[in-house]
Formats: sequence, structure tokens, C-alpha cells
Amino acid sequence: MCQIPPTGLQLRGRPWERMPLTSYTGFIPIGSKAVLITGCDSGFGFSLAKHLHSKGFIVYAGCLFKDQGAAGSQELDNMKSERMRTIQLNVCNSQEMERAVEHMGASLKDPQKGLWGLVNNAGISTFGEVEFTSMETYKEVAEVNLWGTIRTTKAFLPLIRRAKGRVVNISSMMGRMGSPARSSYCISKFGVEAFSDCLRYEMQPQGVKICVVEPGNFIGATNLYTPERIKAIAEKMWKELPETVRKDYGRKYLDEQITKMESYCNSGSPDTSPVINSITHALTSSSPYTRYHPMDYYWWLRVQIMTHLPAAVADRIYIY
Ligand SMILES: NC(=O)c1ccc[n+]([C@@H]2O[C@H](COP(=O)([O-])OP(=O)(O)OC[C@H]3O[C@@H](n4cnc5c(N)ncnc54)[C@H](OP(=O)(O)O)[C@@H]3O)[C@@H](O)[C@H]2O)c1
Repeated sequence: MCQIPPTGLQLRGRPWERMPLTSYTGFIPIGSKAVLITGCDSGFGFSLAKHLHSKGFIVYAGCLFKDQGAAGSQELDNMKSERMRTIQLNVCNSQEMERAVEHMGASLKDPQKGLWGLVNNAGISTFGEVEFTSMETYKEVAEVNLWGTIRTTKAFLPLIRRAKGRVVNISSMMGRMGSPARSSYCISKFGVEAFSDCLRYEMQPQGVKICVVEPGNFIGATNLYTPERIKAIAEKMWKELPETVRKDYGRKYLDEQITKMESYCNSGSPDTSPVINSITHALTSSSPYTRYHPMDYYWWLRVQIMTHLPAAVADRIYIY
């Protein structure tokens, strides 16, 4: 797994061994700092909530279905720790967002000192070629991944500014390079990258740092896709396809796409620690990186080639 600094100041060694000189400047004391993480019912969010709690943070764990007693939020509640505070938070719901801001304003020990960290982690994914993807699906994915990230950031930025704290946005390697059959997800994550860059420029004078984490394939370790979910997405897509597209491509084509997607999901890393460590570094280092790339060597190389070589060359290597 590698964690590549945005600019490799020390160029010897394998990519994941390279650390920028700034990494030697140390870590901030955690003290009574508080962080809010969205999407803590499962996956990275759930593990991160536990991990940051173990480091001493006061954790506000936003859960999509806390009000319905979802297993993840219950497990966090069962820790019975004063520092682990689950909150009901659908990042697409403005009223829930307002309530969460009010709740945190009231429960932070010193609201004047603000909130140290916001981790925009909540996300959904889907697959399907452009011709197979409905406008509703494009909007649905962007609603959570992009507008949800922006809505949450805007809501909590005043508290983060007061603390001169951190915003950590969970993007994806798909936020840096396109991929066939992933356009709805890629668009939403490219948007997160652009939003993060603009916000970083604006917040620099305020002393707030904005970091982006771009995980590779960890699907084996989270709930982003399950075999059942892949089948359900495919069946819904097939049912809703315009007749012309269905006829032109045929069911065999879709079945091949399902197999490809299943094999992509099965090839993911089962260990989320590179992602959790990247987010922790972003929240605790006195000089966090702008971008983190927790991913295996295959995907790291692919991102480098897709983002640095001329498209004609990169496309030949990976796409055609
Ligand atoms: N796993 C990977 O390989 C990978 C790679 C790159 C990037 N990522 C990104 O990492 C983030 C976390 O994903 P994950 O892999 O940990 O998947 P996950 O296990 O499905 O976690 C995503 C979490 O977001 C929650 N969520 C969905 N819609 C929400 C909403 N409207 N409001 C609040 N929460 C919502 C989900 O709640 P429910 O469980 O209740 O639906 C779930 O707990 C996502 O942004 C994803 O795009 C993942």
C-alpha cells in the first residue's frame, strides 16, 4: 500500500517509502479535540470512528440509519463511551443537517473553540455504461457523494474555521481518472476533488487545511458493493433500459459487465488500515498532505500513468 505525498521531496526508495520532509515536523496534541465523520454505519466510516476514538478524539459519528437502529450505530453506542457520540445524519437531508449543527453547537465543550475535524466519508457507488445509466442514477450518486459533501462542509465550516481545523474529503482513485462503466461515480468524485481544491485555496488564509484521500480498491472490506447489490443494480438497469439500447447490446453484454464488476470487487484489499491511517495522518499531522493515495501498487501506477502520460498513450495501456 502506498501513501504518496503530493510532491515527493525525497525521491529515493519505492513510492510508498517516500515521505515528504514535512512529515518529520510532528503531530498535533489530540487533547479534547472533536471530529465529525459522516457515513459511520459501515465500512471506512465505522472503522475510522473506532480508530479515532481509540486515539483519544471525541467522535461524532454521523449515521444514515441511527433512527432505525442500524447495526453499525448500535455497535458504536454500545461502546458506552462519553467520547463516542452517534448522530442521525443523512447528508442529503438539509433538516437533519441543521439539527446536527445545532446539536453539536450545544454539546461541544467550548463551541467557541470549534470543531477540529470533519471527515466527509458518506458515499454510494454504482456501475453501468453511459447508455445504461439513467439520469436518475447520475443525480442519485451525485446527491450523496458530491452535494452531500458540499452540504456538510458548508454547514460545519464555521465551527471548523473557529478551530483552524481540518476537512478531510474521501474521494477515490476514480476521482483522478475515468473508467469505463463508472461515469456516475467518477463524475461525483471528480467534483469532490475540484471542490476540495477550491476550498483549500480559500481556507489557506484562515489556517484551515483541506485534505483529499483517494482510496484504491478496498471493496472487499466495506459495504460499497456486495454480490447481491451488483446483481440488483444490473437487474434494475436492464429493466429500465430504453428498448433500442437493450436490443443493440443484448443481455450477454450486460452479463459480461456483471462478471467484470464481480471480479473487480473480489480483487479489492480486505485491509482498510492504509485508508484509516491516511485519514488519521490528515487529522493529526502538523503538516498534512494535500492528497493521500492509499492503494496497491497496480492502481498507484495506473493512476500515475493515466494522469501524467498523454491520453493517447495511457488509453492504449489501460483502456483499449
Ligand atoms: N471501498 C472502496 O474500495 C472505496 C474506494 C474509494 C473510495 N471509497 C469511498 O469511501 C467512502 C466510504 O465508502 P465505503 O467503501 O466504506 O462503503 P460503505 O461501507 O458502503 O460506507 C458508506 C457509508 O455511507 C453511508 N451513506 C450512504 N448514503 C448516505 C447518506 N445519504 N447520508 C449519510 N450516510 C450515507 C452508508 O450507510 P448505509 O450503510 O446505512 O447505507 C455507509 O455507512 C465513500 O465515499 C466511497 O465512495 C471507497
